[in-house]
Amino acid sequence: MCGIVGYIGKKDAVSILLDSLKRLEYRGYDSAGIAYRNGKGIEIFKTKGKIEELQQILPDPLPATRIGIGHTRWATHGAPSTENSHPHCAGGVAVVHNGIIENFRTLKAQLLSEGCEFSSDTDTEVIPHMIARNLKLGTPLKAAIAETLSQLRGAFALGIMSETHPSTLFAVRKGSPLVIGVGEEEFFFASDIPALLPYSQEYVFLEDGQMCTLTPTGVELECLETKEPSSLRERIVKVDWTPAMAEKEGYDHFMLKEIYEQPRTVTDTFVEWIKDPQRLLDESGLTMDITVGLRRLQIVACGTSYHAALIGRYLIERLSRVFVDVDIASEYRYRRPIIEKGTLLISITQSGETADTLAAQREAKQRGAATLTICNVVGSTSSREADSVLYTRAGPEIGVASTKAFTAQITALTLFALALGIRRGKLTLKEANNFKSHLMEIPGMIREALKKDDEIRDLAATLVQTKDFLYLGRGINYPIALEGALKLKEVSYIHAEGYAAGEMKHGPIALIDKGLPVVVLAPKDDLFEKMTSNIEEVKARGGRAICVTDEPESLSQNVDNVVPIPPVHHLLSPFVSVIPLQLLAYHTAVLKGCDVDQPRNLAKSVTVE
Ligand code: AGP
Repeated sequence: MCGIVGYIGKKDAVSILLDSLKRLEYRGYDSAGIAYRNGKGIEIFKTKGKIEELQQILPDPLPATRIGIGHTRWATHGAPSTENSHPHCAGGVAVVHNGIIENFRTLKAQLLSEGCEFSSDTDTEVIPHMIARNLKLGTPLKAAIAETLSQLRGAFALGIMSETHPSTLFAVRKGSPLVIGVGEEEFFFASDIPALLPYSQEYVFLEDGQMCTLTPTGVELECLETKEPSSLRERIVKVDWTPAMAEKEGYDHFMLKEIYEQPRTVTDTFVEWIKDPQRLLDESGLTMDITVGLRRLQIVACGTSYHAALIGRYLIERLSRVFVDVDIASEYRYRRPIIEKGTLLISITQSGETADTLAAQREAKQRGAATLTICNVVGSTSSREADSVLYTRAGPEIGVASTKAFTAQITALTLFALALGIRRGKLTLKEANNFKSHLMEIPGMIREALKKDDEIRDLAATLVQTKDFLYLGRGINYPIALEGALKLKEVSYIHAEGYAAGEMKHGPIALIDKGLPVVVLAPKDDLFEKMTSNIEEVKARGGRAICVTDEPESLSQNVDNVVPIPPVHHLLSPFVSVIPLQLLAYHTAVLKGCDVDQPRNLAKSVTVE
């Protein structure tokens, strides 16, 4: 994903832009650039490569300027090159862009026929040309921008500056996230909060179709279509994240840091509700009539969040006896979902910006469902569009592979299931208190599981050349088999499949070949015997059985590797069984020399469908 930043205020813009761009490096990029005002007009410096290379081509000392925009590019249209990097400029208008202009070829052909000269292969470059053309026709700048944007199709977040307005920046959102940072007589914009954490704790999340005009004295928000102004103050959200939370703090990778943060982030997510879980229902906006009158729950999510949703189904049905449907968000809307009275749709999304999940949430809302979102980013689109919000408290998750957000999501789902069970009279107070005490032990149990890190790294070293993995789980650990396989795939690029262990005989057992590693999740619960049968099936066919269990002594001697986990309540076993799988994926990827925090082809938040 590209990253865009902008600054206007009293300080040195260039060093702030460079620092903010560095804080967006986790998004992955192949080139970087900035544009700023100097005495005469707009100057642009941009290059293929990293921000360090951009710094080398900048003037020394840095120019004393108070306004500028910056960009880290993740190539979509046009190969990574200096010419294709942003900002793009034409007629004294400079633009940085995150997203895709779907109709740029038609627009570019028209501009070329009018004599415009292009210096890049990008979709973005049509934007400054179109704005400059409107300016030449005498259209005022804001109208020239609005008119241009009305012709663009696709998803974009833009930062714009013009030589005609030396003390003004424009920021526009349509489909790609953009946040405004509010400082003391200084204002910022960025694709994501971590870019601005050292400079502000007050943010406004732009909505689709909103344009923001930033000057040193203030910020105006308006709807591009209706020109309707919006109050900035009313939309300010305080975010209590610190800059350190978005830095590695001594870990080699964000992914490892975030794996180790889980005892705290699980605690942070349950601590405000554990005493009186029903408060969670009221304060997240779920009124009594919605929860008591609840007939059916539909949960939608993508990727790791979908696996959390599958765990949520076990918890909610077991503790509250409400029927739960779970859908991959990108499939939900195509099956023309049936929404009856008493349906609550829950979307689960770390970023709150996943296009497929937002589309599913909007579809359900349009069909009359009440909507709740379980989300990790305050003020994100999902949290603003849902009827009610239950925030996870995982802090900024920088690693593309989701880890702490996942366990925070299942914490929120556990609390939700507990609260619903109590409210609907399916749990006695004694049962609820007993379950709560098990939940409060979980952070310590995760710490115990993390102590096996070195052993798991050694295990990874024996598997790093493997081409295929199978992960097997049953019941509430079936989604953990899916999650373990996804973690390995996305950071180490090794093919892995997660399967319901009971499905083995229906096909996958044909895969078992000599030495094929099969990770078997076998906590000592009522499914343990069945899981040990799966292990025997694997061994009988020459497979390599790697067993994650809290009862190693009950396993047969011919298991190849045992990964011990601490014993926990069977409904809470995913919290500990996922830890060794996260670590196994991490260490395998590191040993393979993969880019763990920015895996190839992946983005942290998939804001396009
Ligand atoms: C998980 O490791 C992946 N990065 C990905 O599957 C992610 O969970 C998915 O894209 C959903 O993201 P969200 O939670 O921000 O909606």
